[in-house]
Amino acid sequence: MTSLSVDQIRIEKQQDYNESVFPHVLRCNDQGANLAMATDWVKRHASDLLANATRDGAVLLRDFPVSSAEDFDAIVDSLDLPNFPYEKSLSNAVRITRTPRVFSANEAPPEVQIFFHHEMAQTPLYPRWIFFSCEIAAEKGGATPICRSDVLLEKLRASCSEFVTTCIQKGLRYTNVMPSDNDANSGMGRSWKSTLGVASREEAESRLGKLGYSWKWVDNDCLKATTPALPAVIELADGRSVFFNQLIAAFCGWKDSRNAPSKSICHGDGTPLDTDAVRVAIELSEQLAFDLQWQAGDVVIVDNMVAMHARRSFSGTRKVLASLASMEINEFTPVQAE
Ligand SMILES: [Fe+2]
Repeated sequence: MTSLSVDQIRIEKQQDYNESVFPHVLRCNDQGANLAMATDWVKRHASDLLANATRDGAVLLRDFPVSSAEDFDAIVDSLDLPNFPYEKSLSNAVRITRTPRVFSANEAPPEVQIFFHHEMAQTPLYPRWIFFSCEIAAEKGGATPICRSDVLLEKLRASCSEFVTTCIQKGLRYTNVMPSDNDANSGMGRSWKSTLGVASREEAESRLGKLGYSWKWVDNDCLKATTPALPAVIELADGRSVFFNQLIAAFCGWKDSRNAPSKSICHGDGTPLDTDAVRVAIELSEQLAFDLQWQAGDVVIVDNMVAMHARRSFSGTRKVLASLASMEINEFTPVQAE
């Protein structure tokens, strides 16, 4: 099999951090490349691709021969990581499964903006890796912004050190009211049955109990669930600390007919967040955002421990696919209070 010709390239508005470039971009130069050549190349470069994604936060593969959910599945599969299926996750987004590894990124309507977050950091079960691929780029808008969480934490510490210390000491608790059936009008409309993988209230309570949640049944067969205290800051194996949580998304975006941001998040001991500091964190995330402007066929590897992601609103048709993979070993520890 002929090998692919792949070069690292620079793209507009790419960010530089010491030895690292964000995102790392690799372009396939072979017009006649096919999927078999691409998967073979990814297999042989898997450890470098993942190491680069960890160092830099994200690796964009551009102009690779990827044109369907099946192609994307094959590329992700070539990295040889354990699949993290959406069905088994506690994600609150409504998604449609397309292949064993691939699902739609979020079925929320185009006008809904999704704010910065680490995937599933509002639950005790989260994937190490998140992959995106663009099937159809939106006519207008629809970028996937990404943001280096280690850089954000450093800057937040410089301006709101007390808040960061409180986050480390107390952690965060998230509350979400889940509907009885999927609500496609919400970015967080997944039903409690689907979220918890259960068919009855008894099974739901048993699953929540094992996960350390508290809960309450509310009107219209909705379930209000509150997580145990989860870490807000995590230390990676290489010594970097990251703002690993869903604080920004919960504060800015967790609103629908059942949920209000002010009730969605608090510290682990139930005390409210310092809203001025939260606004600084939101501001920083926008200053540090790199808006990934999709081209059909793009594939992105994001280290979910290093970079946050979001979604800009859009018009027209946009199809962005996602896939998740677990970590092999527990490579990080929550930062302990001093
Ligand atoms: Fe996400």
